[in-house]
Amino acid sequence: MADKASVASQPEMRRRNPTLFNRNRLKLGVFASNCSSGQAATKVPERWVASWDNNVKLAKMADAAGIECLVPVGRWKGYGGETDFEGDTFETITWACGLLAHTTNITVFGTVHCPLIHPVLAAKQIVTADHAGHGRFGLNIVCGWNQDEFNMFGAAQQAHDRRYDYGAEWWEIIKRIWSGAGPFDHDGEFFKLRGVVGSPAPWGGERPAMMNAGSSPAGRNFAAKYSDLHFDQTFFLEKAAAQVNETRTAARRYGRELQVFTNGYVVCRPTQKEAEDYFHHFGVENADWGAIDRLLELSLGATGSRAISPEVVKMAKERFAGGYGGVPFVGDPDHIAAQFKQMTEYGFDGLTFGFVSYLEELPYFVQEVIPRLERMGLREPAK
Ligand SMILES: Cc1cc2nc3c(=O)[nH]c(=O)nc-3n(C[C@H](O)[C@H](O)[C@H](O)COP(=O)(O)O)c2cc1C
Repeated sequence: MADKASVASQPEMRRRNPTLFNRNRLKLGVFASNCSSGQAATKVPERWVASWDNNVKLAKMADAAGIECLVPVGRWKGYGGETDFEGDTFETITWACGLLAHTTNITVFGTVHCPLIHPVLAAKQIVTADHAGHGRFGLNIVCGWNQDEFNMFGAAQQAHDRRYDYGAEWWEIIKRIWSGAGPFDHDGEFFKLRGVVGSPAPWGGERPAMMNAGSSPAGRNFAAKYSDLHFDQTFFLEKAAAQVNETRTAARRYGRELQVFTNGYVVCRPTQKEAEDYFHHFGVENADWGAIDRLLELSLGATGSRAISPEVVKMAKERFAGGYGGVPFVGDPDHIAAQFKQMTEYGFDGLTFGFVSYLEELPYFVQEVIPRLERMGLREPAK
């Protein structure tokens, strides 16, 4: 199997996965639909019910609209509050297998917490999903941050930057299995393995697309060195262009190109006022503040990520109700299309987003925003 990791070439990835590596200047993804409430920590009754049937309907709708990807959240425990925000979740690789079987073009990601899943098992699971989707599976590697979840597995996390060293070794083992090099022994810092084999190789003999969303220097370096996509956290838009540029430059130092995405939440209504009023209704008056406080406490706590500095806490709190601290896209269709265009000017290749009520809100977005993006030259019409 050709290993494209060291010189990951986007044209080669395009041959294997023509959707995620298409020529659209702005790629789109639906985020977090495998979790109850999606990414909106709100108490409104229309909040997302992450049932299997709802997920299938949404996947088919997004696929028909030419949306490039579905990105789940790898989550093991809810955030409490009145709604137990994200308390119901589907495991993401099995979720991806099911959705790949129901769709035709869209890439479906699965998220793996590498310290919790042994690489021999993960290699096999990923290959299975990748064959089910004829190459449309994508892998999101999470190196860990939430010790509360890790406690359920009896697992202690490495010191922060060591998590990425572990992730690198984990990923190297997986790629070696997929290369058909076995049986091989592995004597690394974190793994001692004997007689390792794994067949078949991924679909078409080349590895699936891989992304990660680390935001610390160690996390960004991991993305630059290994990932095909980096998911950036964009708290301050004025810093976005510099951040994107930094990641791309770091990747080029490794002789690589990668796509940079960020996440946000969409509230699109016929008028700006209607959109803002609805955001105020679900994300302020009916926010699940208990869940938001818990999420922030875990993120900022001693065992959590260092990525969110105290400086962003206030903004994060306001944004967590809408969608995980992502960029707010709140407005009428012209406003949202203009915001999306602005994101491409900062250098982003793609945006993922969620809605309060995905099945009710995605059709309006598809009808009104996507054609505007096409007229702006940011996307080709879906085939
Ligand atoms: C868009 C996005 C998606 C993420 N998805 C997950 C996820 O599914 N599960 C998870 O535990 N962490 C997820 N994370 C957390 C990151 O993988 C990472 O642990 C976090 O950003 C901290 O980065 P750092 O270790 O570099 O500080 C996500 C982060 C972002 C920005």
